[in-house]
Amino acid sequence: ETFDAAGLHILPGAIDVHVHFRDPGYTHKEDFESGTAAAAFGGVTTVFDMPNTLPTVATGAALAQKHAVAAAKACVDYGLYAVLGEESLDHLPDLIAGGIIGFKLYMGNTFGRIPSPSTGAMLEAFERVAPTGLRIALHAETNSIMERRQARLAASGRSDPLAHLASRPAVVAVEAVARAAILAEWTGARIHVLHISSAAELAPLRDARARGVDVTGETCPHYLLLGTADYARCGGVIRVNPPVREADNHGPLWAALRDGTIDMIATDHAPHTPEEKTRADIWAVDCGFPGVESQMPLMLSGVAQGHYSVCDYVRWSAENPAKVFGLHPRKGAVAVGADADFAFVDLARRWTLRDADLQSRSKISPWDGRAVTGLPVHTMVRGRFVMRDRALVPGSAGFGRSVHPLQSMPPAQPRHQDQSLAAVTAQRPEAAE
Ligand code: DOR
Ligand code: ZN
Ligand code: ZN
Repeated sequence: ETFDAAGLHILPGAIDVHVHFRDPGYTHKEDFESGTAAAAFGGVTTVFDMPNTLPTVATGAALAQKHAVAAAKACVDYGLYAVLGEESLDHLPDLIAGGIIGFKLYMGNTFGRIPSPSTGAMLEAFERVAPTGLRIALHAETNSIMERRQARLAASGRSDPLAHLASRPAVVAVEAVARAAILAEWTGARIHVLHISSAAELAPLRDARARGVDVTGETCPHYLLLGTADYARCGGVIRVNPPVREADNHGPLWAALRDGTIDMIATDHAPHTPEEKTRADIWAVDCGFPGVESQMPLMLSGVAQGHYSVCDYVRWSAENPAKVFGLHPRKGAVAVGADADFAFVDLARRWTLRDADLQSRSKISPWDGRAVTGLPVHTMVRGRFVMRDRALVPGSAGFGRSVHPLQSMPPAQPRHQDQSLAAVTAQRPEAAE
């Protein structure tokens, strides 16, 4: 059988470091098969799945359960996060030995009701993870600030989508980024700021980097391309944590991507059913929407418009995610995620995103009807097509494999030595596979 890629560009498959595939526990929203099929259709060859599933990935047993689910169903490669909080502090050696891509720490409330650790518990957690070199991904929003705002909004009777935005002003994230960066500075922990949504968060991020903190960041297409003007069109469908903000954030966020302050694009793919997204009471609407299969077309549209180059896009979608999470080949080692993972794309193809066409079980998003330029035509994982001519290749479910950070990343060094921090020695995990 011959294969002809005439007219297509072959890009490294995207690595989406932030998806919620809901499996196990909420498979009516998504499961590992539908989520990774969506990834394959989006030119995404590796996904990192968040731990707010049921049971929460806070113990070795829960991690093993998710590994079994993913190994049986995944069409693309995957990394699994474990939650970092008071519920997991006693299980860190099991989680590290069980094979994870990193930790996820929720400073603010989220789907699945994961309690946010106190600052004291965060410090202890950072201190214990730092020696492993594993990165801690942060949902950087401060609960106590949000709770007071939400109580005031509820008392005032407001129940419109903009009230949700008002309940999480940018200061909620700015305070969290700054505080997490201080704890990282004192412990040497590596951190990653998820879903940067505002210009204001860039200042504490830049300050922390200038102080030598190993902090990286991501933003998502909805923070770059949607604004408060979209609330009237979308209603509760646009509800996401953190919220889509005023459009005057777009310029600074794009500038931060270009200058490297923001390292990468991720999607926060957060599927919920149409029924869960369209409830009359805005406070009862589940937050988030699918994104893993629309990221590449949305971002390649900026290439077609001449705003940045395809090489810029590849740096944000594949190169930097691989480097930041330790999948980048170095010292002669080859990581699974870097092994012939490709998206074959038609950069000139104009088409329209349609919710009804989504592979995700959550066929509702703010992108329905959006014109884009750039289509993933085939997707290859480790040298094998999993999506070809916009069709899933039969037998792909179960082909995806777990990826782990290469163990070539030395532990980060604390910027401040504090003798009162206990010298807890978590075992560095062995290189997996
Ligand atoms: O909008 C969101 N959805 N934000 C989160 O932090 C969690 C996510 C989800 O899991 O639904
Ligand atoms: Zn989050
Ligand atoms: Zn998320």
